[in-house]
Amino acid sequence: LTSGPRYDIDHWRSRISLLDRYIPMNNCSRGPLLDSVRDAAHAYLTSWETQGMDWDAWMGEVEGARAEFADLINADSKDVAVLCSVSQATAAVAGALDYGERAGVVVSRAEFPTVGQVWLAHERLGAQVSWVDVKDGVVPIDGYRDAVTRDTHLLSACHGYYQTGFKQDLDALVDISHSSGAYLYVDAYQTAGTHPIDVERTRVDFLTAGNLKYLMGSPGIAFLYVRPEVAARLRPTLTGWFGQRNPFAFEVDKLEYAEGARRMDSGTPPIWNAYVARAGMAAIREIGVDAILQWTEHLSALLIEGGDRRGLERLGPSDPALKTPSTAFLCPGDSHAAESMLRERGVIGSARGPVIRLAPHFYSTADDVDRALDALSDVYAHLTSTHR
Ligand SMILES: Cc1ncc(COP(=O)(O)O)c(C=O)c1O
Repeated sequence: LTSGPRYDIDHWRSRISLLDRYIPMNNCSRGPLLDSVRDAAHAYLTSWETQGMDWDAWMGEVEGARAEFADLINADSKDVAVLCSVSQATAAVAGALDYGERAGVVVSRAEFPTVGQVWLAHERLGAQVSWVDVKDGVVPIDGYRDAVTRDTHLLSACHGYYQTGFKQDLDALVDISHSSGAYLYVDAYQTAGTHPIDVERTRVDFLTAGNLKYLMGSPGIAFLYVRPEVAARLRPTLTGWFGQRNPFAFEVDKLEYAEGARRMDSGTPPIWNAYVARAGMAAIREIGVDAILQWTEHLSALLIEGGDRRGLERLGPSDPALKTPSTAFLCPGDSHAAESMLRERGVIGSARGPVIRLAPHFYSTADDVDRALDALSDVYAHLTSTHR
């Protein structure tokens, strides 16, 4: 049994002032504010206030954020695009493909709705979407084997399922898609920052993540990795001057895509968000994703055992190794009401459809887990008694 994390948890806890007021267990939705992240947001305001304009420094910060994300997934920063959301990243990829010869896009029903919606919108451009089902909170891998064929252009799969925390096997998904000659597009929003990701080794074609959950950053920025040999074949329609070979050539009548993933960049990058994102990811790097995985798997085991002991019904995998830090507990009433009642008890959880998710992170303790579960069983008992 793990006795404690491999890093100085008290030091990190002292840097999150929200912990004085709440037990945040909503990292699957939004991470709490770290002091260095707040300082980074202020640094942008200070620069703006005192310099008026400092594009060199501001772009330097965007490049710093790009490099941090690249480092997190073992990529080269030239293979990472900086965008504003996972929706935008998905649309950038969807609009860059030619559906003429292979129209099939296989999408799991575990995708965050925005991803499915973007693919469906591209049926107008020739994409033909088919679905892989979720069963008991997980996606059986055979569903992908059955769905991917020689007509499949791309398989779109999340790394972690937002609702139950189920973690998919990227190696198996790469095998399935590549053996049919299809691309693999991965939404790693629920795993980035808590699970080591190595795009070089796994050979995924596309991998995206936003920044406001386990990466401790802000909304308004997201990253997209594109494997270099794939990027060379892409002709994005969602483009703009920053996606050009020379953004500062100012040639309105020329479309000349940049090399690599940078062709997926579009307009003026999200600069303020980049300050914040860079600081959040730098903290994650400093703590170490391996150490975070080890600690959050331990906390997952405590959530599963502690939930079972209290008679709370779960949805999703029971093996901590098969899940993100998020554990989903079926709610006996309105989950949004339960989320508010949980907050009244000092715990921030996250409602999603029929469940409340408790999602700890590197700063969470075993005591946090215990107290959150006590509060949750109290809320559920209350909802059950008022339901009768
Ligand atoms: C797995 C996953 N993908 C995508 C999103 C949202 O993406 P966007 O950045 O487009 O809001 C979320 C949650 O907000 C998510 O959990």
